[in-house]
Amino acid sequence: MRFFTTTLALAGLAGYALGHSAPSYSKRKSLGFGPVHPHAKFHSDPVVVTSNFGTTEDPLEIARSFVTELLGPQLAPENGFAIRKDSYTDKATGVSHVYVRQLVNGVEVADGDINVNIKNGVVISYGDSFYRGAAPTSFSDDPNVPGPHAEFCAQLDEELVVCRNRVLAAQGGFDQVALGERESFLAHVRVSNCEHAGTPFSMADDPRYASAPRTFDPRAPLLQFMIAATPKSEIVEDIMQRWEHHLDSMSSTYEHDFVGDEHTGIVEHINNVPDAVGPVKAKPVYVQIPQGDTTVLTHAWRFEVEMEDNWYEAAVSVQAPHRILSVTDWASDAPLPKEPTQRPPATYNVFKWGINDPSVGNRSLETENFDPLASPLGWHVIPVGNDPLAGDADLKKGGFVNHTTTAGNNAFAHENWEGLNAWLHNLRPSGGEDMQFNFTYNPQLSNDSRAEAQKYINNTVTQLFYTTNLVHDLYYRYGFDEVSGNFQQHNFGRGGAEGDAVIANAQDGSGYNNANFMTPPDGQNGRCRMYLWNTASPYRDGDLEAGIVIHELSHGLSTRLTGGPANSGCLGWGESGGMGEGWGDFLASTIRSNKVYSDYPMGAWAANQEGGIRNYPYSLNNTVNPSTYKTLDKPGYWGVHAIGEVWAQMLWVVSQRLIEKHGFTDSLFPPAPLADGTVPEGDFYHARTDASKPLVPKHGNSLALQLVLNGMKLQQCRPSFFDARDAIIQADAVLTSGENACELWNAFAGLGLGKNARVDGRTPWGGGVRKDGFKVPAACGGDDVPEEPTPDPGEPDDDEPDWPWA
Ligand SMILES: *[C@@H]1O[C@H](CO)[C@@H](O)[C@H](O)[C@H]1NC(C)=O
Ligand SMILES: *[C@@H]1O[C@H](CO)[C@@H](O)[C@H](O)[C@H]1NC(C)=O
Ligand SMILES: *[C@@H]1O[C@H](CO)[C@@H](O)[C@H](O)[C@H]1NC(C)=O
Ligand SMILES: *[C@@H]1O[C@H](CO)[C@@H](O)[C@H](O)[C@H]1NC(C)=O
Ligand SMILES: *[C@@H]1O[C@H](CO)[C@@H](O)[C@H](O)[C@H]1NC(C)=O
Ligand SMILES: *[C@@H]1O[C@H](CO)[C@@H](O)[C@H](O)[C@H]1NC(C)=O
Repeated sequence: MRFFTTTLALAGLAGYALGHSAPSYSKRKSLGFGPVHPHAKFHSDPVVVTSNFGTTEDPLEIARSFVTELLGPQLAPENGFAIRKDSYTDKATGVSHVYVRQLVNGVEVADGDINVNIKNGVVISYGDSFYRGAAPTSFSDDPNVPGPHAEFCAQLDEELVVCRNRVLAAQGGFDQVALGERESFLAHVRVSNCEHAGTPFSMADDPRYASAPRTFDPRAPLLQFMIAATPKSEIVEDIMQRWEHHLDSMSSTYEHDFVGDEHTGIVEHINNVPDAVGPVKAKPVYVQIPQGDTTVLTHAWRFEVEMEDNWYEAAVSVQAPHRILSVTDWASDAPLPKEPTQRPPATYNVFKWGINDPSVGNRSLETENFDPLASPLGWHVIPVGNDPLAGDADLKKGGFVNHTTTAGNNAFAHENWEGLNAWLHNLRPSGGEDMQFNFTYNPQLSNDSRAEAQKYINNTVTQLFYTTNLVHDLYYRYGFDEVSGNFQQHNFGRGGAEGDAVIANAQDGSGYNNANFMTPPDGQNGRCRMYLWNTASPYRDGDLEAGIVIHELSHGLSTRLTGGPANSGCLGWGESGGMGEGWGDFLASTIRSNKVYSDYPMGAWAANQEGGIRNYPYSLNNTVNPSTYKTLDKPGYWGVHAIGEVWAQMLWVVSQRLIEKHGFTDSLFPPAPLADGTVPEGDFYHARTDASKPLVPKHGNSLALQLVLNGMKLQQCRPSFFDARDAIIQADAVLTSGENACELWNAFAGLGLGKNARVDGRTPWGGGVRKDGFKVPAACGGDDVPEEPTPDPGEPDDDEPDWPWA
């Protein structure tokens, strides 16, 4: 049983920014929204805390004391916390990342998170979104008493009206400029959900459901969520017509749930939920609702709903079941012997690592150059007990299964032409006894482009398997290992939850012109779905564009590293959801870079568009890419992909500044370990005088990659741009004693994310008016301006608002 559960993040590749005239790609329905907590913040300079933590070195004990002190008198028998089991210490940096969940009346606060980062017994930073008020009445109270969220619901309603107007306006070709300022604040929310807004709204209006008595029965709220969630109109109709029938058909089993060692109630597993592919998990929790610059608690059901194309974690109000308060789609558009492998290394005919797509190079024969630290058994071997493909004969024999197909400890790659969820028995090419994956790729013009692409499926799956394994090994070497939640069937006794290799679907039949990745919490398989692109004749195959595959796999990385391996709900929407997209673009561009600088677009080959699928290519030239922090206010920038572009551009500039200072390494892969398991510095890391010090990459591009990954581990759940910036700067402080602080500040400040950047009039939904700040701290030559406080929501900005479309 799982001790802790949260959101699944589904992220698609393509953005659908309003106001951007990109071609309209096919779109999977995905809901993702929730409030931004006004009080939540990352503190990279913790002013705590008077007591010393005694002589303990145990980071869990230090975290426990720290949080106890932080909460002070608020800590009461009814207001407590639990240390999560997915906390870990990063071997490379020595930083312990401890995750803490708030409990009120013994019930989880589903969005009450503290992450504490500890090094050498000292708390170096923490993020905090704990609820700070008094404990409310307990769950045994009458659910018909209106909750504290009437105002909040009214706001939601208002947003739905805006949504509907927006959809109508779009249908009428009505210009967005006509929307008022207030409306555009509100429309920051749910932009991608607008077209689905009507149904729950009409439910709320329907007296049959709206006035039904509230109970602590999760079935009615769940049905209402399914109405909003299902993409199938016939299922919506059916639920509404046969409401009672559906309620009666659902059956439940129950299970005790724990966070860390604390019993936090019962999880109900509800069967026969329309359009769910398995039982839905339901648990009563508290969630926070913004009220001014603080929050109040309300009762909610947390549902985990796995569907064909989505895997949702949703909070639905108990007192007003048609109110979905937040929803995250987890989809984003015994130690082993170490002896050398007995089987021949595989050979693959592929576009080799670094060749982004077929327009920039030809295929070549590449060997299975697995990293011995990251993949001790190579890419094709799984211990039999962890192998879902193992047959009876394998099980009888025991030991290992040596796959001659594209299956292994890090990934199962296969065709998925039918676009279904079952994957175990999908076709995988065989390399035969000598492991030669040498297949033809010779696409021709055809009157049936899909069938033509299917002719080279074996080549495609081989490529997807090769890229996915290299990404696994690369990220591993930068710290995405077992304890931090990586994707492996077997974890070699090195900690973390296992049984979660990436399921990689090539030429997935469920869509075109996109790609997506579903990240459930650690211990459950991630699922990557790659599509054909009908943007050219013959079709182009997204599996062959490394940048797209890397972008998708990076969702798994950022989701597992942010807020801890077992919390997939930290990058669901708004700025944090946007950064979830941005990291993937940044990492894809970094991996394809070479010594001679070049700008890079995203997805240009697959989309058959020179400028790629984003608004701008990533560039050092601000005529080519004019994005700054303020760009987030523009009408086309409400969706996560457009937000992500701005973040990726910032990281791109950051990494180029580091390359100017430290030079460039042609290979991002660190040296192989020596026979005794230690990693030599080689020409890759700075030489150390003290082997207990962390290894610091010597070159700008490898250092940038390291700081970005370490920053993900430091930042808190649901970070803002400010938080993620501060986490990267702190990652540098930990790794290099802050050698690059000013380069980092200068790069961020150059794009408006300086010390004095601010956002005014923030709404719970992440709206507000942003102001570029170009200042750096005094230590970096700036005037010593104090960081401007963000005023209370609603307080007007002194300056003439530089309204985006003005
Ligand atoms: C399978 O691989 C394992 C580990 O690489 C090796 O020990 C074993 O001998 C192999 N078995 C066969 C039949 O090749
Ligand atoms: C692929 O190889 C062919 C034949 O050698 C060559 O003409 C072509 O330019 C190559 N393509 C790329 C993108 O390098
Ligand atoms: C792909 O490979 C499998 C086995 O390796 C083979 O049976 C199949 O015919 C191949 N498919 C195509 C389209 O070449
Ligand atoms: C790979 O396949 C091609 C085409 O079938 C063939 O010409 C080539 O010799 C093969 N290479 C190897 C190493 O088997
Ligand atoms: C494609 O063309 C061939 C003849 O060239 C014909 O037999 C076939 O039916 C066509 N297929 C489709 C899908 O139009
Ligand atoms: C920046 O890009 C613009 C537009 O492509 C170009 O005119 C200008 O020369 C570039 N500036 C630099 C410094 O390369």
